Amino acid sequence: MSSNSKKITTADLASVIRDSLGLPARDNEQASAQKPLNESYVTQSKQFDLRTEFLSEKNKSNHLELMEEYISSLNEVSAKLDSVDRSDTNSNSTEFRSLKVDEAYNINAAFLHGLYFENISDMQSQLAMDSLTFMRLERDFGTFDDWQKDFIACALSSRSGWVVTVYNAFLNRYINVAVDSHNQNIPFSSFPIVVLDCWEHAYYRDYLKDKKTYVHAMMKELDWDIIETRVKKAEKISKVTNS
Ligand SMILES: [Fe+2]
Repeated sequence: MSSNSKKITTADLASVIRDSLGLPARDNEQASAQKPLNESYVTQSKQFDLRTEFLSEKNKSNHLELMEEYISSLNEVSAKLDSVDRSDTNSNSTEFRSLKVDEAYNINAAFLHGLYFENISDMQSQLAMDSLTFMRLERDFGTFDDWQKDFIACALSSRSGWVVTVYNAFLNRYINVAVDSHNQNIPFSSFPIVVLDCWEHAYYRDYLKDKKTYVHAMMKELDWDIIETRVKKAEKISKVTNS
């Protein structure tokens, strides 16, 4: 996410997000979306090529639709936050407070789905032992197998959530995070590296309650080239935050 002082509309915002997430443009954005915004959310560039046979076509299309709904909600929350009354708020129940909670939820929902679709479904999945990714996971988890075991344990521990390998700048190392929902249990200063959706909607249609088999299947097709680009970014963050 980056901020931009230029005034944009929610229609502009929706267009940018849809484009960066590899979704087709919509012809008729809602009329109400023309309201100017002071804030802008811009996603990282993402491309999806979900050729995996470990997920059904209905699962994939339904999941992409779900992501679109999160993006729409993010647009809506962003627009409302631009004009909500900030003068009379409290920690019990106010529109402002609700919007801030929804903001965090939908930012993560939209961005994590983009990262997830980007790093799965590589049917030629291969991780080189001399890659930065492999070396860092071995450095911080002991062995690659230990990273896998910890990743799977986090996946199975998450409650309708995610497992994410992150670079944590506070710790200056990589850790796995068991996320509940889209925004719980996430340590600050965490940059996502490997992202796996563990909500029931990600696997139940194809695997029923066998979450473990779904996790194993997705891990067989992780796109390590994409993950390597994220690790390289994390290494740059490491240089800045530990200088
Ligand atoms: Fe999902």
